[in-house]
Amino acid sequence: MNNGQRYEPLTVPKRVILGPGPSSANPRVLRAMSLPIVGYLDPAFFEILDELSGMLGEIFKTNQRAFAVAGAGSAGMEAGLVSLASPGDTVIVCSYGYFCERQIIMAERIGFNVVPLRTEWGRSMDPKVLADALDEHPDTQLVVGIHAETSAGTSHPIAEFARLAHKAGALFMTDVVTSLAGCELKFDEWDLDYAYAGSQKCLAAPPGISPVALSERALEYIRNRPKPPSSWYLDLSLIADYWGSDHVAHHTAPVSMIYGLREAVGMALNETLETRWERHEANAAALRSGLEALNLEMPVPESDRLDQLTVVKLPEGVDDIKLRNQLLNEYSIEVGRGLGKFAGDVVRVGLMGESCVPANVFALLNALEKVLPEHGFEVANGAAMAAASSQLAMKPSPIYSV
Ligand SMILES: Cc1ncc(COP(=O)(O)O)c(C=O)c1O
Repeated sequence: MNNGQRYEPLTVPKRVILGPGPSSANPRVLRAMSLPIVGYLDPAFFEILDELSGMLGEIFKTNQRAFAVAGAGSAGMEAGLVSLASPGDTVIVCSYGYFCERQIIMAERIGFNVVPLRTEWGRSMDPKVLADALDEHPDTQLVVGIHAETSAGTSHPIAEFARLAHKAGALFMTDVVTSLAGCELKFDEWDLDYAYAGSQKCLAAPPGISPVALSERALEYIRNRPKPPSSWYLDLSLIADYWGSDHVAHHTAPVSMIYGLREAVGMALNETLETRWERHEANAAALRSGLEALNLEMPVPESDRLDQLTVVKLPEGVDDIKLRNQLLNEYSIEVGRGLGKFAGDVVRVGLMGESCVPANVFALLNALEKVLPEHGFEVANGAAMAAASSQLAMKPSPIYSV
């Protein structure tokens, strides 16, 4: 009790967040979120929506529709599935990780005829697998494929997936939750129909809003489908209408989240997308050099890896939970656990958005160097930091000051 109050102001620990998301948010973003609330139908708020829609278009590299779904990345996922096909339709889901399996669960709940294409975790999917499935299922309405699978640390050739889907007369939707603003993504050039992201990864806003891009072709489909999507809240055409020039009322928009997203996207555009991609590349390369110097294995081959998320195999005898707890309790560093098939065998290190800076690479390598010998895995003192440092000398990280 304090001054007769039951609850004191909330406090939280300060962490170095190097997990699979969320990443840290810049104080400028948090400040924007504390601005006064305006009504979701206030013309002043429409100005913010119009500006943000254009800014998101730049981030997705699209001149078509760009807006945000109120909800986590999974809301963007479910909105795409429920809007872009009807129950009973054939939907092909490429599956090479935990989040692909989530898409399959959602697709089955909606009542699609789901064709799961399961390929090896930790490897990019060969587009030929999709080409063969499309030959087998010429009536396919929608193909779904994730760009950056955070659970497996893999990148996938979605431009080729989209080309194959369109050749077969299907729409193509993709998950860019971990890729948006962290690596090359070109919505229009790659001819994508729908891409959804999360605010909390390489954009470095708090979690809870899902930026999306939608093609005119996909919007046309939703407007003309025989029955509207079974979810009113996640009907992408209704959300697009609220963000469109008429600002047709839908649910009450999450005003403060939209302020935060606007600020985070503005900071990404100030940095420039290409520089931001380069920053993710340079820091990931430094991290990997350091991990190699520690003799730690990375199960994903170099050609298939993500820069935003590195999967690290736990050496024999190193306990996943103990290691992660020790990093959190003694160094205030969060790294992620393995999911699905990788559970217990790996840790996942994210270098995303605000968290993707050399200081964090060195902090983690230093902590691992100290902690691993306590788990019976001997490492050479100083080798990891020297390796990361040489790598950064060869390919420096652009300075992050926006
Ligand atoms: C690739 C991918 N898709 C979807 C999601 C789900 O996003 P959310 O947790 O914001 O619902 C995540 C979350 O980590 C993800 O990494």
